[in-house]
Amino acid sequence: MILVLDFGGQYAQLIARRVREARVYSELVPFDAPVEEIIAREPEGIVLSGGPNSVYGKEAPRVDGRLFDLGMPTLGICYGMQLMALELGGKVGATQIREYGRSDLRVKEHGMLFMGTPEEQRAWTSHGDAVFAAPEGFAVTAETSSVPIIAFEEQSKGFFGVQFHPEVRHTEYGMEILKNFLFEACGCTPDWTPVNIITDTVEKIREQVGDAKAICGLSGGVDSATAAMLVHRAIGDNLTCVFVDHGLLRHNEAEQVTEAFGKNSEMPLVHVEAQERFLDKLARVTDPEAKRKIIGEEFIRTFEEEASLIEDAKFLVQGTLYSDVIESGTRDAARIKSHHNVGGLPEIMDLDLVEPLRNLFKDEVRVVAAELGMSERMVWRQPFPGPGLAIRVIGDVTAERLEILRKADFVLQDEIRNAGLYRELWQSFAVLPAIHSVGVMGDARTYAYPIVIRAVTSDDAMTADWARLPYELLERISNRIINEVSGVNRVVLDITSKPPGTIEWE
Ligand code: XMP
Repeated sequence: MILVLDFGGQYAQLIARRVREARVYSELVPFDAPVEEIIAREPEGIVLSGGPNSVYGKEAPRVDGRLFDLGMPTLGICYGMQLMALELGGKVGATQIREYGRSDLRVKEHGMLFMGTPEEQRAWTSHGDAVFAAPEGFAVTAETSSVPIIAFEEQSKGFFGVQFHPEVRHTEYGMEILKNFLFEACGCTPDWTPVNIITDTVEKIREQVGDAKAICGLSGGVDSATAAMLVHRAIGDNLTCVFVDHGLLRHNEAEQVTEAFGKNSEMPLVHVEAQERFLDKLARVTDPEAKRKIIGEEFIRTFEEEASLIEDAKFLVQGTLYSDVIESGTRDAARIKSHHNVGGLPEIMDLDLVEPLRNLFKDEVRVVAAELGMSERMVWRQPFPGPGLAIRVIGDVTAERLEILRKADFVLQDEIRNAGLYRELWQSFAVLPAIHSVGVMGDARTYAYPIVIRAVTSDDAMTADWARLPYELLERISNRIINEVSGVNRVVLDITSKPPGTIEWE
């Protein structure tokens, strides 16, 4: 296992992902986790992540110096490298030119980290400071035209530093460099797969829940379904699944969920019709965070009510993922949105949470789901947010506006599936903004809503790029939406990546 000390860098969780891709388990811990705690976790190596600060800044996060006395292989990335340099007697300073994006590096000495990689290679950098003098005993292994010390290492002590980001795909040999650290420096064995967590997780759930009963909110997505299957393995019929129709679902979605999990499934399913209840609470609420909080709270209250009907139900199972946990704001990463199943939870709850997927990324959940025997269609369903269409109907959420969006979204999905692109896209959906524009249809003036097409590719929703959909497909989608959905007279395409945008509009 590799621990990544998180200094608040935007790529910190990507490091953990890449390490897992190399089949070594990895987790993030805050940069100031006590050294005792780190030792107790028995990692085979440590990575110090990048971060937004300058090591000389007043608020600059530092490490406990004892970390470097543990005899543990350590890789400092960007800010992490600078900290390592500073802590071990090197010098760090501001570079003349701030490097962002691509840089060409030249390997001077392959050492351990650059083993098996060419002398010239492309790397992704993002920094203003750099190491000016390496600590004693360190070999400078690579340089760029503007930064003479872009990588260093002290093999006998197991210390390595890179000023660029090996975890970013644009770094040509990033994965090789990480693997050299994992397998050569740390001596890790590449035997971890997400499937490994099944036995362990089932055991932990049994311990946590004991003889009590649990309920699980099923959304119809792969996460909650996988969470339910794991808990079902652990406690069998003591689990009841609850599907809340909050009226914010897509076309035919409720039918699909009850069909998939209803009659033929071994897990008992309760279907709660709560459309009115949610819409009443959302009436005239336009602030995105307020919507999220209301929906999160109503979900929990509905579950509590259902749980109160089940004797001895004390636990609520949720399909919370690692990326939800991180995006809802760990202490070192800024809060972007309150995901309804994490930050949107009310403070006082009658039910304890069981979150078996809390440490997994989406693609890892898909591997677990397939292993548990879930149907391919379910495994590959695109993610759909808990607050549903409420965060895609911008502004006022009314039954009428929801229906417009539902119809447009259905057309979009239909065309995307017909074009064979559904699985390639991380998500594809329609958004209904709170504006009107003028059009002309059948010689008459129209004044109606536009529909926004949002389609993105992504590995894990932490970053995303807008999908380059073929023009012919866009044309079909646009024609069909305007012809088939009354109340819409214009279709526009969202061409924003994340960052700077987010995937959802609210
Ligand atoms: P953003 O919009 O933050 O979304 O780029 C990242 C991913 O998370 C999904 N999402 C949510 N999922 N509850 C969820 O279960 C939520 O409150 C929520 N908000 C966003 C979003 O669809 C995308 O896949």
